[in-house]
Amino acid sequence: MAIRVLLGFSIPEEDLGHLFEVYQQFVENVFSLPVDLPFSGYRRGIQARQILQKGLEKAIREKLQCTQGKDYSDALDILIESSKEHGKEMTMQELKDGTLELIFAAYATTASASTSLIMQLLKHPAVLEKLREELRAQGILHSGGCLCEGTLRLDTLSGLRYLDCVIKEVMRLFTPISGGYRTVLQTFELDGFQIPKGWSVMYSIRDTHDTAPVFKDVNVFDPDRFSQARSEDKDGRFHYLPFGGGVRTCLGKHLAKLFLKVLAVELASTSRFELATRTFPRITLVPVLHPVDGLSVKFFGLDSNQNKILPETEAMLSATV
Ligand code: HEM
Repeated sequence: MAIRVLLGFSIPEEDLGHLFEVYQQFVENVFSLPVDLPFSGYRRGIQARQILQKGLEKAIREKLQCTQGKDYSDALDILIESSKEHGKEMTMQELKDGTLELIFAAYATTASASTSLIMQLLKHPAVLEKLREELRAQGILHSGGCLCEGTLRLDTLSGLRYLDCVIKEVMRLFTPISGGYRTVLQTFELDGFQIPKGWSVMYSIRDTHDTAPVFKDVNVFDPDRFSQARSEDKDGRFHYLPFGGGVRTCLGKHLAKLFLKVLAVELASTSRFELATRTFPRITLVPVLHPVDGLSVKFFGLDSNQNKILPETEAMLSATV
């Protein structure tokens, strides 16, 4: 999604596979102590970034040649064109930095939320069943278990209220990003402490969700808390902020929510899936929330009677962030 749709790159599959491995190395070391020694996380992260930027430079140059004179078609085109319109053409270094940042912002977060979504649907079969009921009621889930082409439209998706609650609850309890950084522009006081101008401060999304008084039984996975009847998030703008808040709020939040909804509908309507390990994996929070060593899940297709189609091999899909 990030590489093809947002950036419009056409990178061959085998190169993409290699870049993806390097990207994983970059993500794993993105928050490391700045100790530049051989084999340190910092050094591995920097090396991964250099390799990625080399690959990105090639893709950007190819793209610039192909898209000259064409209309905007993706986020990178808009970035390039709008910088020209404002009289400040971006340098190749700025383009590479911006592109890598966009891939990180779009990919790691959405992958984290997708993995949490699958894990919660596995842990709460009643939620999955209720979701299927909603899809059935809307004519999306047919008795044959097929999701017919053209069924999923934007307006259909936005009418799925329970689906919206499920996605919101996943993002509340398993918020991918812990928080964000800000620079203090003006000295201010908070709870009797003076925070001087120029300091870096962090706001914590996770702590906000954990302590917001509006949420009842804060540790319980309960999508209905966002139902019209309860709307626990309706009081106050800053109790629920999985996509951040203020002017630097997430640029891709609508795309991310759309992606998660499509994924949930696909999973609920066209497949059965089960955990491939005996127990659920442990969760770690850095750099984004994800299961340690990934989440291994077996997916089965469905036949016309909604029975599992057993795979010929014991193949399983390992969802890793
Ligand atoms: C579930 C998925 C996502 C989550 C949880 C998420 C979360 C966030 C959060 C919390 C911030 C604000 C950070 C801060 O306050 O400093 C942010 C910023 C941002 N996000 Fe997302 N994001 C997601 C998906 C995406 C996608 C798909 C894109 C790309 C289309 C994207 C692009 C961005 C960008 C460019 C920013 C920086 C905005 C700015 O600084 O003005 N995000 N995101």
